[in-house]
Amino acid sequence: MGILSGKKALIVGVASKHSIAYGIAESFAREGAEMAFTYQNEKLQSRVEKFAAQWGSELTFPCDVASDEQIDQVFEELGKHWDNIDIIIHAVGYAPAHELDGNYVDVTTREGFRTAHDISSYSFVALAKGARKMMHEGSSLLTLSYLGAERVLQNYNVMGLAKASLEANVRYMAASLGKEGIRVNGISAGPIKTLAASGIKSFRRMLSENARQAPLRRNVTTEEVGNAAAFLSSDMASGITGEILYVDGGFNITGMAEMEV
Ligand SMILES: NC(=O)c1ccc[n+]([C@@H]2O[C@H](COP(=O)([O-])OP(=O)(O)OC[C@H]3O[C@@H](n4cnc5c(N)ncnc54)[C@H](O)[C@@H]3O)[C@@H](O)[C@H]2O)c1
Repeated sequence: MGILSGKKALIVGVASKHSIAYGIAESFAREGAEMAFTYQNEKLQSRVEKFAAQWGSELTFPCDVASDEQIDQVFEELGKHWDNIDIIIHAVGYAPAHELDGNYVDVTTREGFRTAHDISSYSFVALAKGARKMMHEGSSLLTLSYLGAERVLQNYNVMGLAKASLEANVRYMAASLGKEGIRVNGISAGPIKTLAASGIKSFRRMLSENARQAPLRRNVTTEEVGNAAAFLSSDMASGITGEILYVDGGFNITGMAEMEV
């Protein structure tokens, strides 16, 4: 029996086989979770339906997280199939490409700032609001962050601010929902080549620097993030809330990496 057997999980953020949410779903399937999925738009619908079927699920719903109506609709539809939700995975992030290419002060705009924070941070609490009636003691919410929330990484720009907001969101949501026995956590993942990541100008360099400087001397996989997500979403982590867990090969602890000889 897996650590998630009997759990019902809504996964938001599958776009491709390379998505972190895909790695999470693989791990969740192996650990016995029952899953439902959302897709951002019609373009992704058939792909997400195919992935869902591969994990034995017929529950897929459209959801652009910029729309409160679509979020409400997801839970209304899901409520016809499930009485409650044990787990929500929020693996969504977005900033317009021109914000992620160039000198921060020069390229950042009011509109880009608003969009990045709306889609990448507000949407997490929006999902919690939508799911409120279906969540219960023992439910768990999990989001995905990045080191750019705390440190400056070239070209990450306004996404760094949005991730800082998202991590604060984790803490405020944990405090807000803790009295109901609902846990809220985040995983700060190391760089992984996904669709979202390819929008960042210097992403290839982020990958190579991470692999060179991280104590494990390599990058992490979506499978490794998925396994950490399974743990944090399971009852094994029942004492953990408001936490950001690094799954980055240890990169975040490094001050100065060893010199190559
Ligand atoms: N790839 C990395 O290096 C890395 C590292 C740390 C954290 N993260 C975070 O992981 C999360 C998942 O990203 P990923 O790297 O798997 O990339 P991805 O492109 O596979 O996934 C991003 C997802 O966000 C969804 N999305 C974007 N705008 C949306 C909207 N308006 N409504 C609904 N969905 C929307 C996309 O459809 C997609 O499914 C993001 O929050 C990202 O910032 C990624």
